[in-house]
Amino acid sequence: MCGIVGYIGEQQAYPILIKGLHRLEYRGYDSAGISLINDKGDLSVYKAKGKVSMLEESVKEKDVTGTIGIAHTRWATHGEPNAVNAHPHYSQSKNLALVHNGIIENYKSLRAEMEKNGMTFCSDTDTEVLVQLVEYMQNSHKCDLYTAVQLALKNVIGAYAIAILEKSKPDQLVCARKGSPLIIGVGKSDNGRAEFYLGSDATPIVEYTNQVIYLKDEEIAIMDRRGRLDITNLSNVKQTPQLVTIQMNLDQLEKGGFPHFMLKEIWEQPNALRTCIRGRLNVTDKDVLLSGIIDHKEKFLKCRRIIICACGTSWHSALIGKYFIEEAAQIPVEVEYASEFRYRNPVIYPDDIVIAVSQSGETADTLAAIQLAKSKGAFLYGICNVIGSSIARATDSGTYLHVGPEIGVASTKAFTGQVITLALLGLAIAKEKKTLSDEMFHMLVDEFQMIPDKMQWTLEHNKGIDKFAQMFTYCKNFIYLGRGYNYPVALEGALKLKEISYIHAEGYPAAEMKHGPIALIDEEMPVVVIAPKRGMYEKVVSNIQEIKSRKGKIISVVTQHDTVVKGMSDYTFVIPDTRDCFVPLLAVIPLQLLSYYVAIAKGRNVDQPRNLAKSVTVE
Ligand code: F6R
Repeated sequence: MCGIVGYIGEQQAYPILIKGLHRLEYRGYDSAGISLINDKGDLSVYKAKGKVSMLEESVKEKDVTGTIGIAHTRWATHGEPNAVNAHPHYSQSKNLALVHNGIIENYKSLRAEMEKNGMTFCSDTDTEVLVQLVEYMQNSHKCDLYTAVQLALKNVIGAYAIAILEKSKPDQLVCARKGSPLIIGVGKSDNGRAEFYLGSDATPIVEYTNQVIYLKDEEIAIMDRRGRLDITNLSNVKQTPQLVTIQMNLDQLEKGGFPHFMLKEIWEQPNALRTCIRGRLNVTDKDVLLSGIIDHKEKFLKCRRIIICACGTSWHSALIGKYFIEEAAQIPVEVEYASEFRYRNPVIYPDDIVIAVSQSGETADTLAAIQLAKSKGAFLYGICNVIGSSIARATDSGTYLHVGPEIGVASTKAFTGQVITLALLGLAIAKEKKTLSDEMFHMLVDEFQMIPDKMQWTLEHNKGIDKFAQMFTYCKNFIYLGRGYNYPVALEGALKLKEISYIHAEGYPAAEMKHGPIALIDEEMPVVVIAPKRGMYEKVVSNIQEIKSRKGKIISVVTQHDTVVKGMSDYTFVIPDTRDCFVPLLAVIPLQLLSYYVAIAKGRNVDQPRNLAKSVTVE
């Protein structure tokens, strides 16, 4: 949520900052802004409502020179999305400009205090309060910017990643973080001089350097063109920065010929999942190797309960993980909404393992949930996609998805990556606990290996969805039904549709219909049913019958060669046959495509749906 970019070095900052904002636009896109110090020492701030392209348009005639700058793309929390509330914010004297990601919870009392001292404010934001507070500290303590930032942040309650420019010190860039991510890229310009980049994640940085430092909570950094990089904590204790080499391919950040990141990421799934299982699933030896489990084998052998905390799509994958782990490893699993879990007083036993599932690894509620679990003595395991993310670093052990950066706001390949990873986890625990017969274990490994090819088949055999989707643009509601492993798929299909097409959709366990929701069915209601020829097939057929007799329109996901459900359906999507536990990985694909094409037919911006942002770093 909100994206920060920064640069100090020898190059012109503007092109680097604008490119970086485009890369980060998936984090927020209601307004954007940029601040630069030019060679004459002028500190400028330019802001625009809307996308980064609006900002570019608005600065066409402006002076955007300068080799130091900060920029921001916003997802509004305090104050409506407009140019005034957009970042960067000036301090009252206009000597400072600051960008911020996060929420300052005590901003009202801080503002009231400063107003009493005669300071005036232009916006409704908590961010302006922060920059004013820094200036207030500078003036009242007669100190330099770095010390003023330390003093200001000691008075702040909440979460922040900030970058700040000072007009009178055009040779230095100061930044800090707590609760919201911030990465420093360490580079060298063509003439070998030091340069530094800032990013809310690595995407605006990887083009220039793969050497990064993940700033830790309550750390403040100062960088200059002579190569100085000093990091301290809020109490001014010097910290030793840890330089990390990141592996990210620039192609992963481009659309690669697809009209949208979402469609690219849907089609990437077979390869992404091949990468996810590479080195972890050994078909020749019929083995599953997860270092995160091997290194903590005893914990998993002793574990009597697993609690998985997650939000949104990640919560849906966690539910599938629950079914798999319980079936394969015979350990009870509870799946919790992180946002609920963190505010309860949950009972956690010493032999519990708490798993956080999060694509971004930055979701504020999930992070807070595991911090609570840690304070109660739980062993923490992270399943994240973003390497070096806060959740990955806060957990005792874990497994990365390795599905590559997910840019589309609607999660697709991260969902299937999470399901695969949770299944690997279930198999790895089952192996240690010997809860599956050898025959069953080998059968699951063999089938697992075939899933990427079966996903490819599913993509190739459901190509007509774009035409079919046109028929549903008039619909106001959809219902999605599934049973067993496919109930979470129904939830995920419904979420995908509502978040990008803005059509109301609900997912239910199919058998729950008769306990109330069936009253909604009439000839206007499309019902998407996941009905593979496995497990509870006959029961799902009966559920379809109940809907048909009330004139609902049936869209089904069926196994190849199925004739019964196909005959009862107005439209069918086909998937190849696979074991029950792997069906979600195939069945979700047509549902992702359906939501994508319905949204396109309705003229929606699928990569940047309204009101949403990719990484929810505020609660
Ligand atoms: C929906 C979606 C969200 C995220 C949720 C959790 O398509 O992407 O529901 O799944 O915000 O995000 P992560 O997985 O980053 O913790």
